[in-house]
Amino acid sequence: MFELLKRMNRQEVILLLLCAGMVVCQVGFTLQMPVYMEIITELVQSGSTDPTIVTQNGIYMVLCAFAAAASAIAAHYFSVQMASRFSRDLRRDIFYQIESYSLAEIDDFSTASLITRSTNDVTQVQNCLARGLRHTLMAPIYAIWALSRITGHYAIWTQLTFIGILVMCCMIVFLVRYAHPRLRRRQEYTDNLSRVLRENLTGIYVIRANNAEKLQEEKFEKENTVLTVNERKAHHGMGLMRPTIQLTSNLLAAGIYVSGAYLIQQAGAAEQLTIFSEMIAFTSYTANLIQSFMNMNIALNMYPRAAVSSERILEVLSRQSTIKDPARPVSPEPLGTLAFQHVSFTYPGTHQEVLKDVSFAVEKGKTLGIIGSTGSGKTTLMNLIPRLYDVSGGTVLVDGVDVRAMSQQDLRSRIGYASQQAVLLSGTVDYNVQYGPSKQPLSTKEALDIAQASEFVDSMPGGQQAEVARGGANLSGGQKQRLSIARAVRRHPEFYLFDDTFSALDYKTDRALRTALRKQTAGVTTILVSQRIETIRDADEILVLDQGQIAGRGSHAELLRSCPVYREIARTQLPEEEVSGDGEGSL
Ligand SMILES: Nc1ncnc2c1ncn2[C@@H]1O[C@H](COP(=O)(O)OP(=O)(O)O)[C@@H](O)[C@H]1O
Ligand SMILES: [Mg+2]
Repeated sequence: MFELLKRMNRQEVILLLLCAGMVVCQVGFTLQMPVYMEIITELVQSGSTDPTIVTQNGIYMVLCAFAAAASAIAAHYFSVQMASRFSRDLRRDIFYQIESYSLAEIDDFSTASLITRSTNDVTQVQNCLARGLRHTLMAPIYAIWALSRITGHYAIWTQLTFIGILVMCCMIVFLVRYAHPRLRRRQEYTDNLSRVLRENLTGIYVIRANNAEKLQEEKFEKENTVLTVNERKAHHGMGLMRPTIQLTSNLLAAGIYVSGAYLIQQAGAAEQLTIFSEMIAFTSYTANLIQSFMNMNIALNMYPRAAVSSERILEVLSRQSTIKDPARPVSPEPLGTLAFQHVSFTYPGTHQEVLKDVSFAVEKGKTLGIIGSTGSGKTTLMNLIPRLYDVSGGTVLVDGVDVRAMSQQDLRSRIGYASQQAVLLSGTVDYNVQYGPSKQPLSTKEALDIAQASEFVDSMPGGQQAEVARGGANLSGGQKQRLSIARAVRRHPEFYLFDDTFSALDYKTDRALRTALRKQTAGVTTILVSQRIETIRDADEILVLDQGQIAGRGSHAELLRSCPVYREIARTQLPEEEVSGDGEGSL
């Protein structure tokens, strides 16, 4: 927690100090009240009946009460200001930090956890700062002040008070040990629950289609029960705190009054009034002492949650992206060449090599087709080019330069990447296509034309200004793919990377799209991943990927002759005579 608080800026520190000052004022004014009470009592004892002095002290008490209330309001205001500014900055820092992450870090934390950390965890810290801090500050001030006053009175009262303090301390130690670990675990359980909830919503199609609601319910029930049991235990524990403090306080008051009554009985007539007034003052000091424990209780309740949240936030803030810009980035001439040299890749945290010794080169303006079964490593290979992940071995060269030697911004500005999963953002069609900066962008119309998307976009209400729902929920799979292709095309980059983006298109649209691409964006080096031979058969060269290794390369015809893996794929997709060689040349 303190580690996190070091991130406060000057303004926030000033607000914190102002809040602390106001808390001191609040406590000071509150504690001034018994002083006037004592003066009035003494006046009555001494037989003085001067009404002006009594009224005067009475007025002081009222003023103190108002001043304490005003200080409390000011302390509240400053602490809320400070906490909300601090959490705003924190959320911003977390956002930028996550933005700088490579996919490796995001995989590692998990999306659900990153969302809880940016929202719920920050709220916990904010609550603790806004409320817990004031109470934490108040507790010792009340305690020290009250303790300094209770000594020097009758021994029996002091002894009773110390027994009371001891009981409360034991209770606090016990509860802290019992409840705090449970409060700390709650965040982890909340994360698990939100993971199930997330899966349940994102996977709704699959769940419904497989009648798997029961399975999901079981998963949910399990996590929900774990969280509930933990919460119950923690709160039962913490719930005992306040009643115990109150009980101790009441017993203490009873003890002081009963023993006071005995003392008064035994005392002479002259002393009786003194003992009585001392007893009144003493009970007001013990009330302050109890107040300090109450404040401590509130602070202790908030602290463990905020402490865990702080740790989790710090984990995010201190994790450095494994992908960083070099100190002196190189910005090569746009040669349009792309090459892999002995590239191997293993996902962070796993042991299996997903790509093994992959080498190839593509010349400017040429098209490289990549085909392979699911899980053969095609997407992984594509992700290495814009440096979404870094290679484990070997080199990826773009325009003749290792991608790690270029700035990520520069590298990615050269690439138009349409990922396997078409991702659309909420906004208009135009917004989605014109997404991100580009040096020489095509117009939305041109891009939509090439991507064969004009027809359906024109039929949408509002055309290019039609709204796309979040995640493209109001579009079909093929329509989403075409918009995501249009977005890549519109950048008019040096390289196109299409990762199985044509899979949901019918053959006719697929062909028309490739023809338009070749005609209107000639000179752009293209990598075309597909599981469909039809899509890649015209490519200048085709790579066959099998379990992360290159199983063959060449033209369609060459591969049919020489590559068993390719022939196997072809057999499932093309007429038999073409695969066996009879149809050769009929492309
Ligand atoms: N984020 C990831 N973490 C760990 N393993 C992964 C990840 N993404 C993919 N893989 C694994 O890498 C292999 C290749 O996946 P991928 O490149 O997506 O294949 P393809 O695109 O050819 O279907 C698969 O075995 C898959 O399980
Ligand atoms: Mg893939």
